[in-house]
Amino acid sequence: MNLQTHLLTKFKAALDAIGAPKDSPAPLSRSTRAGFGHYQFNGAMALAKVLKEKPRDIAEKIVAAVDLADEAVKLEIAGPGFINIHLNPAWLANQLSLANDDPRLGIAPESQQTVVVDYSSPNLAKEMHVGHLRTTIIGDAVVKTLEFLGHKVLRQNHMGDWGTQFGMLITHLNDKLAADSAAETALSDLEDFYRAAKVRFDDEEGFADRARANVVKLQSGDAECLSLWKTFVDVSITHSEEVYEKLNVSLKREHIRGESAYNNDLAATVNALQEQGIVVEDQGAQVAFIDELADKEGKPAAYIVQKSGGGYLYATTDLAAIRYRNKTLGADRTLILTDARQALHFKQTEIVARKAGFIEPEQTYEHCPFGMMLGNDGKPFKTRTGGTVKLAELLDEAVERAEVLINKRESDLSAEERKEIAEKVGIGAVKYADLSKNRTTDYIFNWDTMLSFEGNTAPYLQYAYTRIKSIFRKANASHAQLHAEIELSTEQELTLAVKLLQYVEAIKQVSSEGTPHVLCGYIYELASIFMTFYEACPMLKDGIDENTKNSRLTLANLTAQTLKSGLDLLGIETMEKM
Ligand code: ARG
Repeated sequence: MNLQTHLLTKFKAALDAIGAPKDSPAPLSRSTRAGFGHYQFNGAMALAKVLKEKPRDIAEKIVAAVDLADEAVKLEIAGPGFINIHLNPAWLANQLSLANDDPRLGIAPESQQTVVVDYSSPNLAKEMHVGHLRTTIIGDAVVKTLEFLGHKVLRQNHMGDWGTQFGMLITHLNDKLAADSAAETALSDLEDFYRAAKVRFDDEEGFADRARANVVKLQSGDAECLSLWKTFVDVSITHSEEVYEKLNVSLKREHIRGESAYNNDLAATVNALQEQGIVVEDQGAQVAFIDELADKEGKPAAYIVQKSGGGYLYATTDLAAIRYRNKTLGADRTLILTDARQALHFKQTEIVARKAGFIEPEQTYEHCPFGMMLGNDGKPFKTRTGGTVKLAELLDEAVERAEVLINKRESDLSAEERKEIAEKVGIGAVKYADLSKNRTTDYIFNWDTMLSFEGNTAPYLQYAYTRIKSIFRKANASHAQLHAEIELSTEQELTLAVKLLQYVEAIKQVSSEGTPHVLCGYIYELASIFMTFYEACPMLKDGIDENTKNSRLTLANLTAQTLKSGLDLLGIETMEKM
């Protein structure tokens, strides 16, 4: 049950009934203040202007017409014509029971769309570094949420596996292999390999020329160069896969469609743009001049799709990718997750692609930008010596730090269990710290805050979940006791009930806006509301009435299920004990 849309439908019917013009605004939102009910309908004021009547009179008419006999105990008009909706505890209890008995928690699938999600997409010339964390985990959370809501999601890992630097890399690899080194050994550290290749490129006589010649050979399909390239790319992908595994994200090899996959369509893409007059020749290059993005002097933005030497660019590949995704895959929506510095590129790409008909009016192209991860000094996150931090190493450190913390806590867990918990807590902490920040802003990466058992952190939420599970163990609760009849008699129970039913509102926002932090905020509030409920409404105390006890256990059960579902969508693992 989606409280918001359910109530909205009822109010829209009421507006029709009192003769409001079709499609009159119907703003309905959660009440932000205690005492103002659970939801508020604020459409009376605007309608009063249209109908030339007093807002309070209109509000009264709406209240008389709206059919909420079951749902609400009270509809009260406040201020100039706000309608405060006080939901009926018995009706809420019934909705909670339905959710508690349903593996989908009472959330119906949305009408299905095909959604392409382009995320992670690292450049394979180097190893994955902290800069790839956000796209990978935000993307994965969005993907899982879309799937939960019933959409057909096509993961696209648009890896950077093509371009001039591969000439340099395969030339260096060629020499290493000729000197009898195995590919896996030569490429065991991609950063070192890249650095060594670059030094040779800059300093070694003849190397740069060989590298350039190899790019041309590679792009024209020379078998030897292709085989070196495949070897390189394969090892680099394996490195990424190790990171995905550690991070517990759902990206697999079959989701990779790197830049190289579009190589054969680049000429045709540029052709299509030329034929429609969208690009013109300018100093030997093929350029789209974008009036929509002109500068202050009215000079249109220049968007190059082919360089004067004939070479193609990042932009060309993105246009070809759009053709493939929209025509071949039939995407209704495309979401691309990269940092905010690429925002202009995607804006330009969308304008050009729409003009060319690569994107139909009803199809979307949504760049979901995010801010940067900063160190404690407020500058881009770096190693002590100023190098880029490898993602794999950062994750190992997270687990080590979590292990120290877990070992400090008193418990009867075995060494093996602690190890497993440390993994879930360490990785969960890094992921959650990132996911919980507003996607579009920069954030400071801080080990101590993210690993804290207090506040809006993974350990706090994982602990909240295990705590509910331990209540069930202590109560020796049977299935029936966790699916008992619910009575909402105290304020705390009612608050928890409404919050539980608002889960769907949070995840719908994640799916429409690509913002997992909304779900994090929801889960954290839910956990906090549960703690308040737990303190006020005992369930293990001696002498407590059996029905009351079971009703509370059932509420706790739905809370646990909702926490687990939300954490699952975020890619954060839970455990029964910690
Ligand atoms: N490889 C790019 C980078 O590391 C990200 C690619 C994003 N996707 C795209 N279709 N351009 O910055």
